[in-house]
Amino acid sequence: MAKIKFSFSDLLNNPIKIIAAIYPYMLVVIIGIGFFYIRNSGTLVQNKIAPKIDDSTNIVTDLPFEDAKIAAAVDLKDFTEINPALVEKGKKLFETACSSCHGTNGKGDGPAGIALNPKPRNFHLVEGWKNGRKTTEIYTTLQKGILATGMPGFDYLAPSERIAIIQFIRSWMPEPPKDTPQEVTALDQTYALSAGTKVPGTIPVVSAEKLYEANYSERIWKINFALAKLSNEKLTNESAKIFFSVTTNQQKALVTLFNSSSWRSSEKEFLEVITNNLKENGFSGKVFSLSSTELSNLFNLLKSVAV
Ligand code: HEC
Repeated sequence: MAKIKFSFSDLLNNPIKIIAAIYPYMLVVIIGIGFFYIRNSGTLVQNKIAPKIDDSTNIVTDLPFEDAKIAAAVDLKDFTEINPALVEKGKKLFETACSSCHGTNGKGDGPAGIALNPKPRNFHLVEGWKNGRKTTEIYTTLQKGILATGMPGFDYLAPSERIAIIQFIRSWMPEPPKDTPQEVTALDQTYALSAGTKVPGTIPVVSAEKLYEANYSERIWKINFALAKLSNEKLTNESAKIFFSVTTNQQKALVTLFNSSSWRSSEKEFLEVITNNLKENGFSGKVFSLSSTELSNLFNLLKSVAV
């Protein structure tokens, strides 16, 4: 094979040789690019396809599967200083959880509260508060409820949600009384607010917000209505009395029933649901000592109330 020799003057005299000289290098580069395309064709094609977005509701950042965890610590300043963002958040929560009894304007005139005695509190009035109007005092009311009357506890709301509602309620009050730093510290010590509290886990739901609006608030309304009816009949109706005697947390008990699709079908199913996971489900061990007539009466009452 003839050896091709290049010299600079040679190349100038005979430019076609330039191509011959760089051709092998070009070949290597072209083959290299070819390999690159073959190996990466999948990715290259994918990158060219525009992401498909059907409509804005499908890009919901869904709730992840999450285990129970410690909730963000509460900022204790929110007990003593007005925080407009919280007031706004509290307004929405109030409408969902409280307005059925206390009325949209906080005057104690909500539809579920009409029959209650004592009436739901009118937040605009200064007189007659049992626990008091200070933030820490209302926090305690929401933690424990006033169960002798129709005011349920709201310990299932996160501390920050409760504080938001309180900030909103206090915006209606004439000269809302302030907590002293000592009172805030005492509450903090009782409930470890600035250390954070345990919150339950979450599961994915599609379009959580829609579900929340449609189902959650409707369910809270139903539960509050049922609770209001039961509280109201507690003194006159034997079966309502039984309900209060076999439950440790009336609201939880109603949540248990509303969460079950089967209990309405028979007394047997009913008994199964209310004895499953006792205490956690709002019912107490006393359900086991009910006579069959009592059980039957309770079943019929709840079927008519929890609808
Ligand atoms: C099922 C009806 C009902 C619902 C729902 C309800 N309340 Fe009440 N609430 C009452 C009744 C009845 C009273 C009066 C209780 C009493 O004077 O013993 C009351 C009283 C109160 C009081 C006054 C406590 C005191 O010191 O006298 C506060 C504060 C309060 N509710 C806040 C709330 C908030 C906040 C919510 C929502 C998270 C709420 N309530 C939801 C029925 C309800």
